[in-house]
Amino acid sequence: MSHKIALNFEDGVTRFIDANLGETVADAAYRQGINIPLDCRDGACGACKCFAEAGQYDLGEEYVEDALSAEEAEQGYVLTCQMRAESDCVVRVPASSDVCKTQQASFEAAISAVRQLSDSTIALSIKGESLSKLAFLPGQYVNLKVPGSEQSRAYSFSTLQKDGEVSFLIRNVPGGLMSSFLTGLAKAGDSMTLAGPLGSFYLREIKRPLLLLAGGTGLAPFTAMLEKIAEQGSEHPLHLIYGVTNDFDLVEMDKLEALAARIPNFTYSACVASPDSSYPHKGYVTQHIAPRHLNDGDVDVYLCGPPPMVEAVSQYIREQGIAPANFYYEKFAASA
Ligand SMILES: Cc1cc2nc3c(=O)[nH]c(=O)nc-3n(C[C@H](O)[C@H](O)[C@H](O)COP(=O)(O)OP(=O)(O)OC[C@H]3O[C@@H](n4cnc5c(N)ncnc54)[C@H](O)[C@@H]3O)c2cc1C
Ligand code: FES
Repeated sequence: MSHKIALNFEDGVTRFIDANLGETVADAAYRQGINIPLDCRDGACGACKCFAEAGQYDLGEEYVEDALSAEEAEQGYVLTCQMRAESDCVVRVPASSDVCKTQQASFEAAISAVRQLSDSTIALSIKGESLSKLAFLPGQYVNLKVPGSEQSRAYSFSTLQKDGEVSFLIRNVPGGLMSSFLTGLAKAGDSMTLAGPLGSFYLREIKRPLLLLAGGTGLAPFTAMLEKIAEQGSEHPLHLIYGVTNDFDLVEMDKLEALAARIPNFTYSACVASPDSSYPHKGYVTQHIAPRHLNDGDVDVYLCGPPPMVEAVSQYIREQGIAPANFYYEKFAASA
């Protein structure tokens, strides 16, 4: 029996390893070609200290207070030369993937479907045998190489991986390199290269109510997170507010409806900013955040969308004088 450990490096790269029963995380990483910084390997120096974001584990009994204090252990810090996983875990490593002698993984796959959902939005699915080995945390992204060029673009997974297939929700930027490929040339069977997974915007352990705020195709990581929540359940209420500019930007509403049917305490609303909209809920995401959604600060907020939307929403939340217990965000910044 083994557990999956996601190692998140400082540079945003994530690698997944298997840790056997009784094997320390540092040994499991080393066995799989990843060198977490180590010195004594004895619980005495603290060189291997990392932060466990999620999962159950045994801290070990051999370490000394100088290497890991009781307060640090309480906060979630671990010594990976002593830590033994008792479930799947997520561990943040305070070093770059390069320093740990690893790098992001690369995969080849073929387009299984490319569909224009509206003038502004494209749904892309890719499939391949190698993808059945692709593990990622829901909310993370990959770099997809634009066929026929040397350039890549970042896209968040909009689904979990199933039978070697993953999907993306992509904004059609007129004249954009990837957008032009997807709307003009792409067809089923075309091969694509992706590298990752990457990023620190991913679903953490749900310990309190969640408020999910999406702008445009910033909906993508949330549908992946919600698929995961539908599988594992949640005892806490979850509310999503999905804002777009125009009526035709509003996509995947049937998917949200299906997720709401599968997740008992999940609710959502959508809004359209354009004054010309015929959609019943108008305005910006911020106009639809009710005090109950912020729950006096006992809430984890996840926010994703284009940079101006992320900045406006972050500022709005600050102005409410409420500091959420945790605030995670992802900006869909354009490539340099
Ligand atoms: C971590 C991360 C995750 C991302 N995930 C997603 C995702 O899931 N879905 C998604 O649609 N996008 C996502 N993006 C944005 C995506 O990587 C591309 O920037 C976007 O798809 C444009 O690529 P393109 O090749 O079509 O256009 P480009 O050739 O890159 O751009 C063409 C021109 O359009 C401008 N431009 C680019 N994007 C925009 C925009 N949004 N609005 C206005 N002008 C723009 C550029 O500055 C440039 O002048 C993500 C970005 C990051 C950093
Ligand atoms: S390597 Fe020294 S405490 Fe782990």
